[in-house]
Amino acid sequence: MAGTVLVTGGFGLVGSATVRQLAADGRRVVAADLDTPANRKAAAKLPDGVEFRWADLTDAEQVERLVSETAPAAVIHLAAVIAPAIYRARKAARKVNVEATATLVQIAEAQPTPPRFVHASSNAVFGARNPHRTPSPLRAEDPMRPCDIYSGTKAEAEEIVRGSTLEWVVLRFGGVLSTDLAALPLSSDAMLFESALPTDNRVQTVDVRDVAFACAAATTADVAGEILLIAGDESHRHCYGDLAPALVAALGMPGAIPPGRPGNPDSDTDWFVTDWMDTTRAQEALGFQRYTWDDMMGELKSKFWFAQLPGRLLAPVVREFMKRRSVYFNAPGQYADPWGAIRDNLGDPSWERP
Ligand SMILES: NC(=O)c1ccc[n+]([C@@H]2O[C@H](COP(=O)([O-])OP(=O)(O)OC[C@H]3O[C@@H](n4cnc5c(N)ncnc54)[C@H](O)[C@@H]3O)[C@@H](O)[C@H]2O)c1
Repeated sequence: MAGTVLVTGGFGLVGSATVRQLAADGRRVVAADLDTPANRKAAAKLPDGVEFRWADLTDAEQVERLVSETAPAAVIHLAAVIAPAIYRARKAARKVNVEATATLVQIAEAQPTPPRFVHASSNAVFGARNPHRTPSPLRAEDPMRPCDIYSGTKAEAEEIVRGSTLEWVVLRFGGVLSTDLAALPLSSDAMLFESALPTDNRVQTVDVRDVAFACAAATTADVAGEILLIAGDESHRHCYGDLAPALVAALGMPGAIPPGRPGNPDSDTDWFVTDWMDTTRAQEALGFQRYTWDDMMGELKSKFWFAQLPGRLLAPVVREFMKRRSVYFNAPGQYADPWGAIRDNLGDPSWERP
């Protein structure tokens, strides 16, 4: 299809892969993001022919200029403040995830030829998922039950997009992973956060390259007005208690992740906002699932071949370190309390519909 694709959050995890996918497809791409030193460095490495624009989406004038000057045929709106960073940035969360989405939608609606709007949402909008009480897999038509600042602001943004006059497509992603570890936000907050999640909480992962493929395909496929669940095939269905250990084993350190805590089977709320997803319709419409879980782990193992022997020796030390860094180290109780742990260690996760 002719026509420019504007990718907001174009230098983020999903954005960078999406921009590469669109460029490989021969599309005209404009990557838009905040002007930061890291993004400037990334801009220097963009594929040939990809344009970029610096724009803070919380500034309506900058959004107006960005959209009118690029005149996109499609916008892929990825810019957001995500978990766990969001728990330390409540004000920015609302401004970026909700208000900036509203501004971008309004400005897009006012264009002489309004673009198709592909909106990145999350399986988080379904809320906390106790595997003992909630059916699985999730389906797109299941009700949204947001319960924290991330799921809440993502649900509000979705409602803005779905209520617009634009030709919209909502893509709700599962847990996005990359075999390029430099692309992942592996901060100490991310490790703390991971240790807070119930070990038996379901999550469905997906390779970022498949998410990028889905985003690019959604700009032209016959999916207008649809909500599609974007996750890997069934090999990507995990529980948090298996996920980090498998990743770390692929990096050469089997056993380096200490066991966490299971969720409380009697609680509807003390669970994180992820679950397995029915991707049948999304796969039929977009054909994006190309990397299985084994493909990803095999790729990591071969990239990290040099770490396999020293990693095995280091694993017990890392395990002891991780045990002491866990949010539940020496804490009373037997079950995970993810929201309490997030509140104590990162920031207030609560969300109230305004
Ligand atoms: N990563 C996941 O596992 C996951 C899961 C479900 C949904 N999602 C959704 O996918 C989208 C992309 O996520 P990601 O993992 O690439 O996140 P990311 O944090 O890597 O990228 C987000 C990008 O948005 C940009 N941004 C933030 N505030 C901005 C502003 N004011 N103006 C312009 N740009 C701004 C950031 O600079 C960043 O590059 C988000 O909407 C997220 O909610 C991600």
